[in-house]
Amino acid sequence: MNITIVGTGYVGLVSGTCLADLGHSVHCVDINREKVEMMQKGKVPIYEPQLEEVFLRNIKGGRLFFTTELKEAMKVSNVIFLALPTPPGEDGSADLSYVLNVAEQIGDLMTEYTLIVNKSTVPVGTSEKVKNLIQTKTKFPFDVVSNPEFLREGYAVEDFMKPERVIVGGSSQRAFEIMDRIYLPLTNAGIKMIKMDEKSSELTKYASNSFLATKITFMNEVANYCEKVGADVDKVRFGMGSDERIGNRFLFPGLGYGGSCFPKDVKALIKSGKEVGHNFQILESVEKINQKQKTILIPEVEKYLGGLEGKNIAIWGLAFKENTDDIREAPSLEIIEQLLEKGAKVTAYDSIASDNVKKIWKNKITYADNMYDCIEGADALIIATEWGEFRNPHFNILKEKMKNRAIFDGRNLYDLNELAFHGFYYKSIGRKLIKK
Ligand code: UDX
Repeated sequence: MNITIVGTGYVGLVSGTCLADLGHSVHCVDINREKVEMMQKGKVPIYEPQLEEVFLRNIKGGRLFFTTELKEAMKVSNVIFLALPTPPGEDGSADLSYVLNVAEQIGDLMTEYTLIVNKSTVPVGTSEKVKNLIQTKTKFPFDVVSNPEFLREGYAVEDFMKPERVIVGGSSQRAFEIMDRIYLPLTNAGIKMIKMDEKSSELTKYASNSFLATKITFMNEVANYCEKVGADVDKVRFGMGSDERIGNRFLFPGLGYGGSCFPKDVKALIKSGKEVGHNFQILESVEKINQKQKTILIPEVEKYLGGLEGKNIAIWGLAFKENTDDIREAPSLEIIEQLLEKGAKVTAYDSIASDNVKKIWKNKITYADNMYDCIEGADALIIATEWGEFRNPHFNILKEKMKNRAIFDGRNLYDLNELAFHGFYYKSIGRKLIKK
């Protein structure tokens, strides 16, 4: 099939590339000329494991194209995926202007039956809005379906190719049949497609992300309580997760959730609820608790060092999680902000995300080239991202290079006994404090 994808951000580019890998001819449209030229030359604009290989394979195979012209793409395809940003407005509600602008253009450009597939995360009722808008612009028949995306950064290609489910929300047989054909290579391989109405589909996305954010937040609360009563959150997590009704995933306590989806979607669901007089009290608490969790280690470092003024603090990890260069809503940013406010000198290391942090914090902090340079002379080390390279460091090098043997681990990477053996002061989340 010929498919157009409008928007080559994270979701658009991964979806377009993977749809091409399922055998479709995919035309990706973006208004950013520079980015389009870059992609035409075979360069992937984002860091995502596996993406480059699939991207190049499909460009070479003549199935993946890039253009700035929606009109050109629509000449060869009557299925258009919208993968446009829906950033939070000042009040937390999703800004639909990109989606509605493109919908209007599609309405103007249509010359035959067209299926508009919305992949952007949008509030309940957006399909209807898009439908009503296009209706005013065209005399040709069309359908709008909702097909939310559940990609995780760092695993996006895998998540697209082997999703736990494909959700399609629509109200026309014709549209469902086209969606069946698009996803046939996946459903043939046993992936289930769940069909429903548009509104339920739109809400499925928000409810899923908000539920996961709540699950993480619940565990952070349990972890903080564990510290007060002397329980070990790792044991509690394991015990809880063994109940299949709870499941063992997304139970890891840490520095709170970040990234481009959970914070934005939780806010947007709270806001959409308010618009119809529904108070999502649980999500309001989730937001508050999560915000606090990001910097929960700062008072601990401060207490240990007797103040932060003039202290050298090393940070391992800047990305909001491992396997991505994304720093949106990353705990590291708030940690740096508080450390600087309190007069500390900060040296940070992240193999991928440093360049993005440089754009924000410029030369207010020092960026180390590797994890061991980062801790040279440090009064304390804070671990903010669970990158694989931090999981098994040479503790002897740390002992040699650090001024104090003190680790504040926001990701619970180490065994308590091992750190005690090496003589570290080791503060993690929801576990016993190891004092040297
Ligand atoms: C998420 C959803 O998983 C995905 O389905 C959706 O489409 C987009 O949002 P992503 O933001 O890439 O994906 O990251 P994810 O791996 O889900 O982690 C989100 C945040 O939760 C990260 O900050 C991570 O560190 C945190 N997290 C995750 C925890 O603190 N504990 C956990 O047990 C799991």
